[in-house]
Amino acid sequence: MQELRNQILCGDCVEILRSDGTPFADLIFADPPFNIGYKYDQYQDKKASEKYLAWTRDWMGACVGVLHPHGSFYIAIGDEYAANIKLVADEHKLVMRNWIIWHYSFGQQLKRKFARSHTHIFYFVKDAKNFVFHDEAVRVISDRQKKYSDKRANPAGKMPDDVWNEYPRVCGTFVERTGFPCQMPESLLARIIRVSSNEKDWVLDPFCGSGTTATVAHKLNRAYTSIDISETYVQAARKRIADSEGLPVEGNGSTDWPEHADAELKWLYSENKIPVRHLCANRSLLSLFTKKLNGRLQKKRPYTLKEVSDRLNLLGSKLSPLDITRRRRMEASSLEE
Ligand SMILES: C[S@@+](CC[C@H](N)C(=O)[O-])C[C@H]1O[C@@H](n2cnc3c(N)ncnc32)[C@H](O)[C@@H]1O
Repeated sequence: MQELRNQILCGDCVEILRSDGTPFADLIFADPPFNIGYKYDQYQDKKASEKYLAWTRDWMGACVGVLHPHGSFYIAIGDEYAANIKLVADEHKLVMRNWIIWHYSFGQQLKRKFARSHTHIFYFVKDAKNFVFHDEAVRVISDRQKKYSDKRANPAGKMPDDVWNEYPRVCGTFVERTGFPCQMPESLLARIIRVSSNEKDWVLDPFCGSGTTATVAHKLNRAYTSIDISETYVQAARKRIADSEGLPVEGNGSTDWPEHADAELKWLYSENKIPVRHLCANRSLLSLFTKKLNGRLQKKRPYTLKEVSDRLNLLGSKLSPLDITRRRRMEASSLEE
């Protein structure tokens, strides 16, 4: 199995994962084709339902075979097959910890039914008592802290809900956009990888696509293996990971804020949902925010409150929820009716 470590492989995930079958993955994130007629360059995404379900059993079985007993298994899926995924997981005796709804507030605009604006993300483990879960890595500033400055609030913040609405879909104007049709946001993967794995753990994605999972795993100091049947996607994903090394410095040219620090700042900002002006004017909130940022970045010299406040103000419009709304509107209006 070591030959799979830190590799993006081209091939059929079922064949590759079954070829050894020895457990190696600490965490699996799978975002399979949803069988809804999406256009991929190799895979044909409209199969007879029985065929798609038989294949779902195969790839889920292959994944379970390589997942360590303490491992976690996340699966993203659309409405059409969400219930089936749960049933197949039951067959494999996986334990469901959360049925997460990823809510993105723009979807394809429709005339004759409600617009879909969510995806299901299942969170399973193999063993109900033995799994990795770093709650402290993903806690967000609570309403008690945010609105009421309540001394009884847990200083570490609160656990996010199981409806995730802080991650917009990756649309045309986003820096991380690769051009792949259904790319997952890096920030969403970062939450999953942080909470359900340790540094140096091994993360598997059987459906690589643009390589989001492997890229984020690499950035967060985890090993990765991703597989795709498309050679074109595999080449692009390898390049994406290579490009994430030694990233250029963004913004004002200061080496104090490398791109990954800016990315963390933006992710944390969207997860905590406090407007820049309010955050910077309230010392105790700014200090909670800075502590969380420093905790994630693990820099030798932590950022000061002033540095974080200055950076937030500098990034201002890029962070503003209004800006996100505007981008969403622009994106929605460019979608087909
Ligand atoms: C929904 S996309 C994954 C998107 C990915 N999460 C991202 O962020 O870019 C599904 C991918 O599965 C790939 N695929 C389909 N069948 C496969 C198979 N049997 N083995 C490996 N990859 C496969 C497709 O080529 C496609 O790139």
